Amino acid sequence: MAGDERILENLTLAVVGATGAVGTEFLRIIEKRHPELRNLKLLASKRSAGKKLTVNGVELVVEETTADSFRGVDIAFISVSTAVSLELAPIAVAAGAVVIDDSSAFRMQPDVPLVVPEVNGPDVEAHQGIIAIPNCSTTPLVMVAHPLGQANPIRRIVADTYQSVSGAGGAAMTELREQSLTLLKGGAVKPEAQPQQIGFNVIPHIDAFLDNGYTWEEQKMIDESRKILHSPEIAVSATCVRVPVYVSHSVALHIELDHPMSTAEAREILSQMPGLQVMDDPSNKIYPMPWNVAGQDDVFVGRIRQDASHPNGLAMWVVSDNLRKGAALNSIQIAEELVARDCLKPRVRG
Ligand SMILES: NC(=O)c1ccc[n+]([C@@H]2O[C@H](COP(=O)([O-])OP(=O)(O)OC[C@H]3O[C@@H](n4cnc5c(N)ncnc54)[C@H](OP(=O)(O)O)[C@@H]3O)[C@@H](O)[C@H]2O)c1
Repeated sequence: MAGDERILENLTLAVVGATGAVGTEFLRIIEKRHPELRNLKLLASKRSAGKKLTVNGVELVVEETTADSFRGVDIAFISVSTAVSLELAPIAVAAGAVVIDDSSAFRMQPDVPLVVPEVNGPDVEAHQGIIAIPNCSTTPLVMVAHPLGQANPIRRIVADTYQSVSGAGGAAMTELREQSLTLLKGGAVKPEAQPQQIGFNVIPHIDAFLDNGYTWEEQKMIDESRKILHSPEIAVSATCVRVPVYVSHSVALHIELDHPMSTAEAREILSQMPGLQVMDDPSNKIYPMPWNVAGQDDVFVGRIRQDASHPNGLAMWVVSDNLRKGAALNSIQIAEELVARDCLKPRVRG
């Protein structure tokens, strides 16, 4: 990003979903990156109206989101369900705000940029009022694929994920804790926030199943990664699995390139990528894991090796904090990118 990110502090920001898993992390990141920011409006559903949250030393009262909530707002960060985003985002845009949306409501619309700033930051300039952030497993995938693909065109990607329960929101985190306690005491559990028992289990089922046998979560990784990389020709397959981990998604990533690339070259290229850290010393038990990545901003990659099944292939292990780079941090970076590029207002109305 070029320019002074602190300029965000001159704007009025609204956070819709301020009480949720992503919203809570969003406020922590704002305190670190923009400690002087004061003009912040915290919004949620009627259930949370009146709740008090302290941000940058100021106590703020959460308000119910209504049609009037966006008056005077420059940027609305929306972290709610897809159905609620579909309803609220157009209202916010009509009120003059730029929307940065975390849901899957708008990601694949042709006039909505889908952005990971380190990969396709300039795409924000084409916004017509809404900018989407990708699914939390797509983001680490493209952070690794982009620099490799710049050096050696990518032909095929196979991504198998190990996704934490926080990716399904606050209720799923509570469910993991409660199920684990109950099961340890020999009790029986009934899944509610997840399609199956998540305590001491893994679930190869995130979001609905489609006619092609993939889940919607897997289809999102396929479609979104091609859009962000501007590469509709890349063959992509994904298997998305929920695991009993609180925070951070892991991805076993297999990338087939146009021609062979040594692991030394791959490491060198990946170590130059902003926002990406190579953590790769297996003989000393050094590789990324959810436990050592949660709470960190960067995406981490390790276990980089030649893919034994293809001469042009690389295999690796990627971990990132789904609430930070997978959601809240990416949203804030998009806002910083918008401000730095001076394109808060759409350049051309669609
Ligand atoms: N979790 C992740 O890793 C991740 C990553 C990328 C994208 N996302 C996406 O981000 C969005 C939010 O996810 P989350 O994990 O933060 O969910 P969450 O923990 O369930 O939080 C949902 C938030 O939405 C609010 N809300 C519900 N109905 C509302 C309404 N009618 N009007 C205004 N606010 C309303 C809730 O407020 P109350 O407290 O009042 O109920 C709460 O603040 C989802 O679309 C998700 O797919 C999540």
